[in-house]
Order: sequence, then C-alpha cells, then structure tokens
Amino acid sequence: MRLAVISGDGIGPELVDSALEVLTAVSSLEGFALEVVHQPGGAEHFLRTGEPLSADELDRLRGADAILKGPVGLPHVRRADGTEGGLLGGVLRRGLDTFANVRPVRLLPGVQGPTRHAPEDIDYVIVRENTEGLYLSRGAGVATPAAASDQLMITRDGTRRVVVFAFELARQRARARAVPARLTCVDKSNVLRSYALFRAVFEEIAADYPDVETDCLYADAAAHELVARPRRFDVLVMENFLGDVLSDLGAATAGGLGMCGSANIGAEHAYFEPIHGSAPAIAGQDRANPVSQILSAAMMLAHLGMEEAAARVQRAVESAFSDGAVVLDEAGSPTAGTRATTSAIVERLVSG
Ligand code: NAD
Ligand code: IPM
Ligand code: MN
Repeated sequence: MRLAVISGDGIGPELVDSALEVLTAVSSLEGFALEVVHQPGGAEHFLRTGEPLSADELDRLRGADAILKGPVGLPHVRRADGTEGGLLGGVLRRGLDTFANVRPVRLLPGVQGPTRHAPEDIDYVIVRENTEGLYLSRGAGVATPAAASDQLMITRDGTRRVVVFAFELARQRARARAVPARLTCVDKSNVLRSYALFRAVFEEIAADYPDVETDCLYADAAAHELVARPRRFDVLVMENFLGDVLSDLGAATAGGLGMCGSANIGAEHAYFEPIHGSAPAIAGQDRANPVSQILSAAMMLAHLGMEEAAARVQRAVESAFSDGAVVLDEAGSPTAGTRATTSAIVERLVSG
C-alpha cells in the first residue's frame, strides 16, 4: 500500500506517528507491504511556502493508494482574506471532491461519557456534506467594518449525491447488524430556503428507498436529541456547517474529540483524518488522545477493502479501554499519555 501521510500541525505529528505504529503492526500481522510517503501540508507549510498545499502537491496525493492526514491549522496563521492559512481541509475536500464526510460517533465500553448513556445508546454516523453549504463562501464573503455576509449555497446535485451516499450507508449498516435501516435528515428548513431545498431533495430520494425508515429534524432539536436520546439515531445527513458543529457535539458524548475519526470520500479519492483540530495548547506534551487518528486509519483500511485489518485495529482500541489500560481524564486526554496509549493498543493488536 502506497500511503501518503500529511502529519499536519500542533498535535498532528504525534498522532500520525501513533497511527503509523499501529498500521505497521497490522501490516505485518496481515501480510501487506506499507510504503509511506510524507507530504508536508498545513499552517506551518503555509508559513514556509505561501500555500497550505500546492497544486503539484495535491496532484501527487491523487496518485497514492490512500491518504492519512493529521489535523492542520493554527489559529494565528491567516491568509490575506482572513481565512486560516492552514485550511488544508478546504483544499483537500474541494480539490479531491470528497463530498461525503463520514463521522462515526460511538461510546466505547469502558469510556466514561459526560451523559448517563450506555455504549449501546451512542452508535451513529454523521454524514456531513463536504463541498458546499456555508463553506462554499470561504474567502468569498463580503465585509465592511459595519457588516459582513456569507452565502449558504445548496445545490440539487450536491445534495443528491451526499443523500444517496447516506441512504446506501444506512442500508449497509442495517445489513451488517440485521436491523432496520434508519436515516435522519437534519436541516433548518423552517427558516432558510437553502435548507428547504436540502430537505426537498432528501424527501425525493427517500421514495427510492422504501426499506429505510426516515425522519427529518430541525438542527436545534437534533442537537437536543443527540444529547438527550442518541439511541434514536443511526445515520444522519446534513449540510456542511451543521455537520461540523454537530459532529463535535457528538464527540463530546463519546468521551471527547480524541475519540472520533473520519473518512472524506469522493467518487475518485478519499482521505482520512480525526474530526478535531491541531489542539496547539497540548501539542508536543504527550497528552493528545491518538484514538481519533488510529480509528481514522482503521476507516482507511476498511475503505481499501481490508476489512479484517480494520476490525483488528478496532478491536484492539476497544479492548484497551474495556480492560482499563487506557483511561481518559476530564479534558479527554489519556492519563497514561499518547505514547503509552499507542503501545497499549499495539500490544492488544499483536496478542488479539
Ligand atoms: P481543536 O479540535 O484543536 O481543540 C478543541 C479542544 O479539544 C481543545 O481543548 C483541545 O486540546 C482538545 N482536543 C482536540 N483534539 C484532542 C485530542 N486528540 N486529545 C485530547 N484533546 C484534544 O479545536 P480548535 O482549538 O478550535 O482549533 C485549533 C486549530 O485546528 C485551528 O486552527 C482549527 O482551524 C484547526 N482545525 C483543524 C481541523 C482539521 O484538520 N480537520 C479540524 C478542526 C480544527
Ligand atoms: C473540521 C474542521 C474544519 C471545518 C476547519 C479546520 C476548516 O473544523 O474538519 O471539522 O470546519 O471543516
Ligand atoms: Mn470541525
């Protein structure tokens, strides 16, 4: 496997080192060769070169079998238009046209969440539209000292492809668990016409999937239900900005941002990254939870068809928590540190 790796900023390099340790272990267990090509990218790279990732560098990424990315961005590194110089997420997502951002939220046995829920209550996937919505306005808004505006753009085609993706994912999860398929549309169609189009397209497509139970929620009510009654959710689909916010909310219920990995999937390319940022305040201190990056790597293996390798990594992470080897503090950092957590997971991978 020719793997392109972007270590990123802040805690990125330590997280990516952890994930590579796990991938190296699983590659020898499963007998596949791993060739790692490092591609600098993000805010530090922007400071050095003037671009978070150049067009040539993006092209090189297109040639890899898989792309694993650490978090990027530093709040003080900004472009002339006011957006972050490390907005590699935008460059990659639109550049590779990875329209579906798949963000699973699961409370693992042994992890203490902030709510009273049990692991079986919190197990759903947020599918976030990744190429349009409010984010299409990035760097294109209008600003005067007195007022500023950005446009939220929803297109029929852009909505259609991500909603179809979400329906297919709901079917796939239902088949794997032998339960009915469920998909929830989250929007704010009671206020904005853009979201009304999103919901209308969702309802049109729902007619082609009579086997999938569907419902629609306004985003404010969805935020409430994600905390109060997460068990009602299986797959959720939503516009870009809503998906950004609600996935961090979901992560909090699962033990923190460091518990959630993600896949960015398009028709031709895909890349894998934690849902959180570069956490500059804890960078370089062996305090970051590497599980988000390790689970992102597991999603990458599954996407490449290496289901058993992915399941092995998943099981190793789960047993590290369930047997008490890894414990998170109030801030979501593993008490034993990043490196010891990684070793605990690798040990279980090898022995399991
Ligand atoms: P953040 O996600 O970096 O941090 C939010 C909080 O969560 C902080 O308290 C941080 O310490 C904690 N945290 C995050 N990941 C953790 C982990 N693995 N283990 C333990 N604690 C963790 O969000 P922010 O501070 O708003 O953003 C910092 C930078 O990251 C910004 O430049 C932002 O734009 C960027 N960012 C990048 C991505 C990405 O690359 N996909 C995602 C989100 C934010
Ligand atoms: C994420 C991040 C990014 C986003 C930022 C860094 C642009 O928060 O991946 O969730 O808002 O999409
Ligand atoms: Mn985010």
